[in-house]
Amino acid sequence: MKIFAHRGASGTRPENTLPSFAEAIRAGAEGIELDVQLTKDNELVVMHDEQVNRTTNGKGAIKDKTLAEIKALNAGSWFDEKYASTKVPTLKEVTDLLIARNYRGIVEIELKTNVEDYPGIEEKVSDLMLSQEWPFIYWYSSFNLDTLERIHKLEPKTRIDLVMKDSEEATNMAMDRSYIKGIHPSLDWALAHDAEVPNYPIDVRPWTVNDEENLKKVMDLQVSGAFTDFPEEIQLAKRRNQQ
Ligand code: G3P
Ligand code: MG
Repeated sequence: MKIFAHRGASGTRPENTLPSFAEAIRAGAEGIELDVQLTKDNELVVMHDEQVNRTTNGKGAIKDKTLAEIKALNAGSWFDEKYASTKVPTLKEVTDLLIARNYRGIVEIELKTNVEDYPGIEEKVSDLMLSQEWPFIYWYSSFNLDTLERIHKLEPKTRIDLVMKDSEEATNMAMDRSYIKGIHPSLDWALAHDAEVPNYPIDVRPWTVNDEENLKKVMDLQVSGAFTDFPEEIQLAKRRNQQ
């Protein structure tokens, strides 16, 4: 079972920023998850929400802003004033950090097309990821099945997982598409399906597991992985419970 740092070490650093990814690397996270969106001028930026409101000092949609406009925002003060100089990173800046730190875990790139279509985002991400070799392994995920199909056509050999909240329909669709190798359900969904999850024919990785009690529960479900905002603590707890 592998522990993924959800939006980096987002419990202790501003999510989806270079400090949060640097902390996940320092903590020895087995995997790192990040969310990708597309700006008005077709640049790939790493942010969870489609709007900049929650995690920056700006307002409005990423799709209506240029990269220069997004780079002018403060992406750290909402979390802690000591991160006031933190900017929204591009996907390239995150991969540069991962290379600089020689990160050798798994990087999960979630394409955030569940609200916005972001036409061409799959090609943009794939162009970057195929442009060189990496010290890490990377996978793709999305809530959007059309995005998964498009990215699979672009990179038939790259692993692809479906992110889902609580829909049986989405689970069945994942089963019907052999290129989808896993599902990422909410923790609540996984715990409510405790009879089925251990026998699932594809991998299951719930989000978000932030305490030892829930970690033990998902370990009992024999899931292949879990997402956490606190990679250091949850990896330590995993080791304790494996002994
Ligand atoms: O892949 C798990 C997780 O990233 C899904 O939820 O909304 O945090 O991107 P979200
Ligand atoms: Mg995500």
